[in-house]
Amino acid sequence: MKRNLLNLLLVVLFLAVMNYPFTGNRPHEVLGMVLFFFILWHNGLNIHGYQTFFTGRRNIYWILLTIVNFLLVIAFLLSMVSGILISQLVMPSMALHGTNTLWVHSLHQGSSYACFLLLGIHLGFHWEMIWVRLSRRLGLELYPQFTQYMGYILAFILVIYGMEASFANHIGDMLLMKHVFGILRVASPEQFFIDFLGILGCYTVVTHYGICFLKSIQYK
Ligand code: HEM
Ligand code: HEM
Repeated sequence: MKRNLLNLLLVVLFLAVMNYPFTGNRPHEVLGMVLFFFILWHNGLNIHGYQTFFTGRRNIYWILLTIVNFLLVIAFLLSMVSGILISQLVMPSMALHGTNTLWVHSLHQGSSYACFLLLGIHLGFHWEMIWVRLSRRLGLELYPQFTQYMGYILAFILVIYGMEASFANHIGDMLLMKHVFGILRVASPEQFFIDFLGILGCYTVVTHYGICFLKSIQYK
């Protein structure tokens, strides 16, 4: 239960931190620091994940999971460190100043978008487990056929919507640290949440079905 709540909170908090254009600087920096402590807690609960680096079964699933988790840790640390280096409120004493610090701003943009997309993939690796817990809690296991079809429909909608929202919000340009002006097509924070949740869900769905496919050919 604690895990489920924490995971849900992490998603909401992460989306809020990504929502810089609407939160503005002060709430963004504070939420960024809060997120840092929650992610530390999350890593503490999942410390076994680091231990499997030495003991895990060396199959294709393990290799992909390890690569994604490694990139996720790097992207997250880069977002935090670059965020602190451009901080105006939380840690101004550590902030870099001057015109030649533009690259730190770009790094913050690129690494936070990379972290966001890697999170979608990270969730995809764990979707089966999350789904089992969720359907048990919602009592959906009583209607397996119905749940399965609804799952397919939802997955299809998420992929289409997520792809469209990715292009509309220039996610590729943000990732490549390009400065795009007036980038957001979204006019409200609610729309931002829907678009970015759609993008996150799209990466989760594609990863989840990719993993299912890999498992199906491995156990044939
Ligand atoms: C929105 C944020 C995140 C969510 C919702 C999330 C979700 C999950 C879930 C569902 C699991 C499986 C175990 C469990 O249910 O607790 C997990 C495991 C793990 N997470 Fe996260 N995670 C997030 C961010 C991160 C970040 C930023 C890092 C690294 C800095 C990270 C590192 C790990 C590690 C090391 C594991 C265990 C290894 C594994 O099974 O992949 N997570 N996460
Ligand atoms: C993982 C945590 C974080 C994420 C995902 C994140 C994400 C973002 C995003 C998406 C932007 C808007 C970038 C743009 O559109 O140009 C931004 C800007 C900014 N962030 Fe963060 N951030 C995080 C942590 C932090 C922290 C901890 C601080 C400071 C303590 C911080 C300070 C800033 C500042 C000052 C800006 C404005 C950048 C500029 O003017 O170019 N961020 N952040």
